[in-house]
Amino acid sequence: MPPSQPPSGSTFEAEVEAGQRFRFGRNWKRFLKNVNEERIEEARLRLAQFLGVDLNGRDFLDIGSGSGLHSLAARQMGARVTSFDFDPDSVAATSFIKSHFASADTEWAIGGGSVLDNDYLSQLGQYDIVYSWGVLHHTGAMWKALENTKPLLKPDGLLYIAIYNDRGETSQMWLKRKQRYCSLPKLLKPFYFLSIYGPHEIKKMFKSIKRGKSSEYFASWTTYKRERGMSRVYDMIDWLGGLPYEFASVEALTDFYEKDGFKLEKLIENSNTGCHELLFRRNA
Ligand SMILES: C[S@@+](CC[C@H](N)C(=O)[O-])C[C@H]1O[C@@H](n2cnc3c(N)ncnc32)[C@H](O)[C@@H]1O
Repeated sequence: MPPSQPPSGSTFEAEVEAGQRFRFGRNWKRFLKNVNEERIEEARLRLAQFLGVDLNGRDFLDIGSGSGLHSLAARQMGARVTSFDFDPDSVAATSFIKSHFASADTEWAIGGGSVLDNDYLSQLGQYDIVYSWGVLHHTGAMWKALENTKPLLKPDGLLYIAIYNDRGETSQMWLKRKQRYCSLPKLLKPFYFLSIYGPHEIKKMFKSIKRGKSSEYFASWTTYKRERGMSRVYDMIDWLGGLPYEFASVEALTDFYEKDGFKLEKLIENSNTGCHELLFRRNA
């Protein structure tokens, strides 16, 4: 069981105030109103597909649980779930989703803590499956965070991580945009958001209209929930604001785990700035 109280938010708040950290949890709280059976089903399908194992009776750790959607999906597939997050609003979002869809469930524990905090992690024990999707590159110390996942796995356990691709200059350009977004006053953020995404979206829309396929453009919004049950607009905010931000190549990640007895079992490689998805198995 993880400690169930969120940690003191002082470091977190100081980083937000300094424009160094995005309030992911606030975005997740807003996303919660979109969570329905259809999205939960998408999240379950995606987890099952990538992990390729029966979750029933397995111990499942969700590091950086965000909205809690994937913890819920794992719990509904029969796993005993432990979720934690560093952002107090993400902890609240995960607790809300639990109270709504799995209230009084004793096989799902939620705590507040950081994957960079070794004392916190030492209380968690070991798991059959460690899941950390789009989290470790947002900690401010990605390689330490990646290192800290290793002892959390039981022998033969599975580690499912998603990490932003390293696109060199393009990644550096996005880092600057994220820094600008996070240091803007709240009132100006929507304008910056529109200035970044607006021209691109309009171009895409006109292109599909010109080809007589306007429905294709609108479908890119309506079918987005097939991406792990997520919402396109909240993912766009999350992407533009997402600080801290780091990235890595598949080779660097694979070398980093393989030297310590992990084997890459599955990979979805991203050729743009999005996330690589990797599934490692810890040696038995
Ligand atoms: C982009 S969200 C991903 C949420 C969720 N895993 C998902 O796939 O939807 C990143 C999450 O990582 C959390 N996070 C950032 N730094 C963390 C840390 N040091 N320890 C644990 N969670 C952290 C954020 O608060 C946020 O909820």
